[in-house]
Amino acid sequence: MELNLKGKKALVTGSSSGIGEGIAKCLAGEGAHVMIQGRNTQELQRVVREITAEGGIAHYVEGDLTKDHDAKQVAAKTLQTFQQLDILVNNAGAFPKRGWLQGDPQDWLDLLNVNVVSMVRMIQAFLPQMKTLGWGRIIQIASVAGISPSPGLPEYGITKAANINMTISLAKDLAGSGITVNTVSPGPIATAGARKLFQEIAAEKNWGTNWEVIEKKVTQEMLPNLVGRFGTPEEVGNLVTFLASPAADFITGVNYKIDGGRLA
Ligand SMILES: NC(=O)c1ccc[n+]([C@@H]2O[C@H](COP(=O)([O-])OP(=O)(O)OC[C@H]3O[C@@H](n4cnc5c(N)ncnc54)[C@H](OP(=O)(O)O)[C@@H]3O)[C@@H](O)[C@H]2O)c1
Repeated sequence: MELNLKGKKALVTGSSSGIGEGIAKCLAGEGAHVMIQGRNTQELQRVVREITAEGGIAHYVEGDLTKDHDAKQVAAKTLQTFQQLDILVNNAGAFPKRGWLQGDPQDWLDLLNVNVVSMVRMIQAFLPQMKTLGWGRIIQIASVAGISPSPGLPEYGITKAANINMTISLAKDLAGSGITVNTVSPGPIATAGARKLFQEIAAEKNWGTNWEVIEKKVTQEMLPNLVGRFGTPEEVGNLVTFLASPAADFITGVNYKIDGGRLA
């Protein structure tokens, strides 16, 4: 299938590692020019190097998207570099392990800032120029926890439910504009962030420290899925790349689960 992504300009937030890195590499592999974003300069430079070594075009911009000032700078540098933005992938996020009695109200507000308001900052920064283009893609990376919340990460679940909800509101607001808005909701994906979370859970459950054992316990006992393993950032990248392409012009307001059948 021809995805017609050559030369499209894309920003993937939180692409210095994990799912965002996988998405950025898939988009670049289809010829999109990608802006890599995050806070860790060395990792940003590594991802740019790896994409460039494969013949792709990538730049990077640092910034903490929980801060208005940084978010504005990220948007300004992106538009300065590319002149326009066709594809915004709101992926940056965090999933601290805090139960109902561990987080105080400020922790809830802080996570809402990281996982929801950061995405709003990017949408508000790029939407006006996307409207003038008459074509665009906005994709939120939520989670199956936004549909089926876990008792152990309550704040996280509400932020991811908010991502799914905001997609639908924005898709309706942009009816007929040429801009589509969708959500992708992964189940467990083997990233540095997920490994850290499940290693903490494994320590509490006395599962030991061997990642293969932990992965089996998670995907067969704790959060069983039909495929029987964690997903990879590349698999999420493939789905997002399709949704970002002109081939997906007729798809908007949808939440795609990519969870190995976890919620089937
Ligand atoms: N992995 C999973 O199992 C899973 C499942 C469902 C949904 N998700 C969602 O997928 C997204 C990515 O998760 P991941 O597993 O790839 O996580 P990860 O490996 O921890 O990577 C998180 C990325 O987000 C960036 N980031 C975090 N806070 C930021 C901030 N305030 N400003 C700018 N960038 C920030 C990090 O950048 P720096 O490190 O450079 O700061 C990093 O690039 C998240 O929204 C998460 O909720 C993950």
